[in-house]
Amino acid sequence: KHQEKMEESIFVFFSLLLLSSVLQSAHSHGNHPLSKVAIHKSTFSLLHLAHIKPTPSLLGLQGQTSEWITVEYSSPIPSIDDWIGVFSPANFSDSTCPKENGRVYPPLLCSAPIKFQNASYLNPQYKITGKGLLKLRLINQRSDFSFGLFSGGLSNPRLVAVSNKIAFANPNAPVYPRLALGKSWNEMTVTWTSGYGISDAEPFVEWSPKGGDRVHSPAGTLTFTRDSLCGAPARSVGWRDPGYIHTSHLKELWPNRIYEYKIGHKLKNGTYIWSKQYQFRAAPFPGQKSLQRVVIFGDMGKEEVDGSNEYNNFQHGSTNTTTQLIQDLENIDMVFHIGDISYANGYLSQWDQFTAQVEPIASAVPYMIASGNHERDWPGSGSFYGNMDSGGECGVLAETMFYVPASNRAKFWYSIDYGMFRFCVADTEHDWREGTEQYKFIEHCLYWNDRPCLSIDFQ
Ligand SMILES: *[C@@H]1O[C@H](CO)[C@@H](O)[C@H](O)[C@H]1NC(C)=O
Ligand SMILES: *[C@@H]1O[C@H](CO)[C@@H](O)[C@H](O)[C@H]1NC(C)=O
Ligand SMILES: *[C@@H]1O[C@H](CO)[C@@H](O)[C@H](O)[C@H]1NC(C)=O
Ligand SMILES: *[C@@H]1O[C@H](CO)[C@@H](O)[C@H](O)[C@H]1NC(C)=O
Repeated sequence: KHQEKMEESIFVFFSLLLLSSVLQSAHSHGNHPLSKVAIHKSTFSLLHLAHIKPTPSLLGLQGQTSEWITVEYSSPIPSIDDWIGVFSPANFSDSTCPKENGRVYPPLLCSAPIKFQNASYLNPQYKITGKGLLKLRLINQRSDFSFGLFSGGLSNPRLVAVSNKIAFANPNAPVYPRLALGKSWNEMTVTWTSGYGISDAEPFVEWSPKGGDRVHSPAGTLTFTRDSLCGAPARSVGWRDPGYIHTSHLKELWPNRIYEYKIGHKLKNGTYIWSKQYQFRAAPFPGQKSLQRVVIFGDMGKEEVDGSNEYNNFQHGSTNTTTQLIQDLENIDMVFHIGDISYANGYLSQWDQFTAQVEPIASAVPYMIASGNHERDWPGSGSFYGNMDSGGECGVLAETMFYVPASNRAKFWYSIDYGMFRFCVADTEHDWREGTEQYKFIEHCLYWNDRPCLSIDFQ
């Protein structure tokens, strides 16, 4: 029996070598490598013996927008270099695409995994037994998922096994609402993401003062294509369909009042799709003597709570910051995240991860953003600095995923009134020097004085 097993694994080992040499030659042609494998029998025996299986296969049955899943995998030729890639959409390409510039990182697959994990992570026995189990947290991001077991490490990935597809019950569901103050003090905007374009459904917000009569306000819908982006990886391997981003303007709010809201879509056949219910407190009247508790920070980024890796995965402290803000939320009136928002750096799926991570904050208090180098900078794209820090996003993601009350969203400067304060938000990534449009804005914003000066207690 033992002898038989040995032979089997030697056979598989040779098949793998053969398969990988076929993979190497197939890569440059852009075809699915497995389609070029002539020796179907060995491929079959390899894929038959290695496996990877996620459960459950249907997620979000109670309307959740995230869920923990279990991935079980095994390989007849396990190695410390094996890893698991999470792909969405599920029909990924395992061909390798060349590194176009220094902002493209391994694993250099043509479909960048939305995240990946070492097959030995929390499974130290994997390299010996070839069996492992991972708990992963998936968020609803408009598409199905599949999982690949790879050998060869991140720099020379070879697909060993691919899983069945799994999906959220409604991948198009409206998710991750984020509030921002509108152009006047008594307007709140609600921005969210969904898979429903304007030809599929009508987006709106249902809202009311707490306990009052509900009204519906329409939302506008934005999206963009690959061509709107400036370079790699955003325009190439990091590209992922952004879905639709909706913004509704809730106007003539009463000062200090608590409002409840739900985001919704009315489908063509009359069915309504709803988010859960959220609430916020409207801004105080400008100049109203009141306590203002505003948190201002930059450079946060995102992190996967299941320990997975992702591209540019160095903002491990971001979950601590997020958790702390959520704990303090009842003592926070507004948040300014003044640049270096998600650190997606051109790997677009990370904007979904970021908006999911900050949802408890952004759905409850205005989440006002500014632009940083990691949102905007790209050579020849009009940014003040000509470096490649946005990974090809050149501002498109930041300008679309979040609302800011700027008169032109490509020019990321604006002012807002909130109680005792006027906030002037400038944009370091566009020219601010004397004589520029932005200089005039800053000057005007800082010279403003149309209300009596009150004493302010800083606490
Ligand atoms: C997995 O972790 C082990 C132990 O830390 C490490 O030696 C190995 O290189 C890792 N593999 C990958 C694919 O990162
Ligand atoms: C996945 O399927 C979509 C829709 O059919 C298609 O546009 C896309 O090119 C496919 N992706 C890959 C990597 O095959
Ligand atoms: C309306 O369309 C949705 C999506 O296609 C479907 O799930 C739902 O069952 C339909 N409802 C009715 C009443 O036909
Ligand atoms: C951040 O959170 C992690 C996980 O809860 C914890 O292990 C770590 O000590 C925290 N780091 C800081 C600096 O608080």
